[in-house]
Amino acid sequence: SDTLRLGIAGLGTVGVGVLRIIRQQAALLEARTGRKISVSAVSARTRDRDRGVSLKGYDWEDDPVTLATRDDVDVFVELMGGSDGPAKAATEAALKAGKHVVTANKAMLAIHGQALAELAEAQGLSLRYEAAVAGGIPVVKTLLEGLAGNGITRVMGVMNGSCNYILTRMESAGQTYQDIFAEADALGYLEADPQLDVGGIDAAHKLAILSSIAFGAQVDFHGIQLEGIERVTIEDIRAAADMGYKIKLLGVAQKTGRGLEQRMQPCLVPDSSPLGQLDGGTNMVVLEGDAVGQIVLRGAGAGEGPTASAVMADVCDIARGVWLPVFGQPATTLVQAKSAQSKTP
Ligand code: NDP
Ligand code: HSE
Repeated sequence: SDTLRLGIAGLGTVGVGVLRIIRQQAALLEARTGRKISVSAVSARTRDRDRGVSLKGYDWEDDPVTLATRDDVDVFVELMGGSDGPAKAATEAALKAGKHVVTANKAMLAIHGQALAELAEAQGLSLRYEAAVAGGIPVVKTLLEGLAGNGITRVMGVMNGSCNYILTRMESAGQTYQDIFAEADALGYLEADPQLDVGGIDAAHKLAILSSIAFGAQVDFHGIQLEGIERVTIEDIRAAADMGYKIKLLGVAQKTGRGLEQRMQPCLVPDSSPLGQLDGGTNMVVLEGDAVGQIVLRGAGAGEGPTASAVMADVCDIARGVWLPVFGQPATTLVQAKSAQSKTP
């Protein structure tokens, strides 16, 4: 039909951002996709809350599963979060009911990505997740489309803005991890469960997803060698600075003779390198292809506008009829990841 109808579950930071773009950019979206993009219904935990955006004209559903399977929903947009629970239940229900899915939920994909990809592909449906990795940076699209002609040799980057903020502020303010952690918390930069950020788990979820696309392997979150930033001291940061280095929570995924090496851990990077210069809550992803060489993508990894921008990129692709295998090739052809661990920082 002329209209692509969405059902949106989750009206927090990202959901509200998506509603704003749909309202403010209606004409642009139609011109770019050739279709109107409308919202049939929305869902969140609490109905009576001022979210700073009008919900007029949208039906309300208490239950995300009911929302996801409505007849007047073509695309289920999952913006609730959580690896299991209602996010997973509604995503599965949507795919079984023949709806495309767009999600920002890295936790769900890092754990259940393979099963969800198989379900989507068996149904001939799109399951898109640009917002799940590095927020506003179009890294998934770059790997799936822009670098489709390359064998990917390495994926690397800073993929958690909160950790990058803490590490750079420790250096600039000369204060301890505990002090800057408290500051980041007070500023609302940390996830509800801060361990997801400072334990490196959120960044590792993102790396596991990128590895799958890059290396044709099943998502293997548990194969990642993982260390967070909680044990980085101000003395470590000063010693690194004296030698011309910065400490970054760096993710690296590459194929080795022993299997797929995936690491997310604090690393020394040269002060003068693009990664060393990455301050504050920004993200940077470095992709290496055998034909293209190295590509560096940098931008906002979180926040209402950047994350909603990525969600809308997926919605627009579905409106245009662009279908891509979830992880770049059919899920049934992805190999089981054989994990190789390395001590090299
Ligand atoms: P928020 O916590 O701001 O919002 C979550 C929304 O989901 C809220 O509206 C909440 O309802 C709703 N919700 C939670 N549980 C349920 C439930 N059981 N049933 C119905 N609705 C529910 O999260 P964000 O917007 O920040 O994040 C959403 C997703 O996007 C997550 O997967 C997150 O990891 C991902 N993401 C977020 C980024 C960011 O910058 N915020 C960046 C990249 C990805 P209520 O409002 O009533 O409490
Ligand atoms: N907590 C995440 C970060 C949010 O700091 O990068 C975006 O995924």
